[in-house]
Amino acid sequence: MSVLASTRNTLARGLLQQSNSGRASVLLTVGGARLYSNGEKTLKERFAEIIPAKAEQIKQLRQEHGSTVIGEVVLNQAYGGMRGIKGLVWEGSVLDPDEGIRFRNRTIPDIQKELPKGAGGTEPLPEALFWLLLTGETPTESQVKALSADLASRSELPEHVSQLLDSLPKDLHPMAQFSIAVTALESESKFSKAYAQGVSKKDYWNYAFEDSMDLIGKLPVIASKIYRNVFKDGKLGSVDPNADFGKNLANLLGFKNDEFVELMRLYLTIHADHEGGNVSAHTTHLVGSALSSPYLSFSAGLNGLAGPLHGRANQEVLEWLFKLREEVKGDYSKETIEKYLWDTLNSGRVVPGYGHAVLRKTDPRYTAQREFALRHFPDYDLFKLVSTIYEVAPGVLTKHGKTKNPWPNVDSHSGVLLQYYGLTEASFYTVLFGVSRALGVLAQLIIDRAVGQPIERPKSFSTEKYAELVKSINAKK
Ligand SMILES: CC(C)(COP(=O)(O)OP(=O)(O)OC[C@H]1O[C@@H](n2cnc3c(N)ncnc32)[C@H](O)[C@@H]1OP(=O)(O)O)[C@@H](O)C(=O)NCCC(=O)NCCS
Repeated sequence: MSVLASTRNTLARGLLQQSNSGRASVLLTVGGARLYSNGEKTLKERFAEIIPAKAEQIKQLRQEHGSTVIGEVVLNQAYGGMRGIKGLVWEGSVLDPDEGIRFRNRTIPDIQKELPKGAGGTEPLPEALFWLLLTGETPTESQVKALSADLASRSELPEHVSQLLDSLPKDLHPMAQFSIAVTALESESKFSKAYAQGVSKKDYWNYAFEDSMDLIGKLPVIASKIYRNVFKDGKLGSVDPNADFGKNLANLLGFKNDEFVELMRLYLTIHADHEGGNVSAHTTHLVGSALSSPYLSFSAGLNGLAGPLHGRANQEVLEWLFKLREEVKGDYSKETIEKYLWDTLNSGRVVPGYGHAVLRKTDPRYTAQREFALRHFPDYDLFKLVSTIYEVAPGVLTKHGKTKNPWPNVDSHSGVLLQYYGLTEASFYTVLFGVSRALGVLAQLIIDRAVGQPIERPKSFSTEKYAELVKSINAKK
């Protein structure tokens, strides 16, 4: 009997949870699997229902078109970071160079309208996006409330992970601490235990789902513990079982302001997924393809996110902005900013927060954050500075002539929003990105295991071998 079936049949333990609407739902836990008695499907039940059709769709597509040529690869792509090579499958989102990201075919403004909101808020709930990424469906409000409660119920850290975090040196970068904590959670992996016990391939997804939910549930606590340990007094509040994911994160960090809670909901939603080829997504998927657990796979993804050309760019932007502010001493004129941009470029550095490997226009995630700032603090000094840079930098980068995309990306704006509400410690910013990114990459990891994605193993050649290859190809022309 599958775990889902046994869950339905065996009501081993019941824990009453009061949802925000006042409607009671019963959270039942059986061997790590959960369901609710409010009549609606849980995320896991819904995923179990839709996944056979997805697997069939893939099978059909491969049977009919498995030999269709979908692209060509030139030598420069092998040396150029594999840019543009189609070779990955990612169900949750697709990135158009001009339009930007679509999550299950929905733009950011679409999801801002469509996804359920937090109590009293207008921003989408990140856990609702997780549901959408996993199933392609928009959950109802009560389904999201149940999901929020489910995640909150999984939030407790094992003692050894708490102690480990407390023992780390305060000057160890928060992303290194994050990755260490997630790796140490391997002790909890149901996937690894089930694999060791010889579980059947067709049940892999079930354990990947449980590990992913457990891990996501613990992320607000891990992130906040790092924040409180490194920058505050080390004291951590407790998870509110009735609060949503973003609110719990905001409150645990120590921020009670309703607007900051809304910012967290938006932030965690828009950073979650950006198709499969970016470093954190690709790494998580790659490591997972070896059947490493979701904990080990995601911690590998976090190590990639920690790089300055990827997630750490949000920290770099702030540091760069502060140096600019110091240097120009209140003169935010376009001429002064233009000079500072040229100084950065002429010293051989990149302008952080600008450029993108795929995008060729302003990142809609930048726009969503800009609109948030315009709604809540249009006159904030740092926001005005970022807005002036937005007017100047694309022209400078175009004149510089190197980057294929002179427009701002997501990281160009996020730090300024956090600064406004008092979360000023820039070296923590990539941790927030990581909490969000978990939603996208773990959704795909569950799908990977459910549709039986194989171990990833592209072909590599040495330069000598490539030289031989191109010679023999050209000789045949
Ligand atoms: C994101 C990024 C890594 C994409 O790299 P990419 O796909 O190789 O970008 P391009 O093809 O446009 O790069 C071509 C050249 O322009 C340069 N370039 C790209 N973005 C640049 C920027 N913001 N400032 C200065 N130079 C830049 C590259 O370094 C490269 O130079 P090179 O030929 O000397 O190696 C790159 O734009 C970058 O470093 N941006 C700044 C960091 C950042 O914001 N990262 C977050 C991304 S979401």
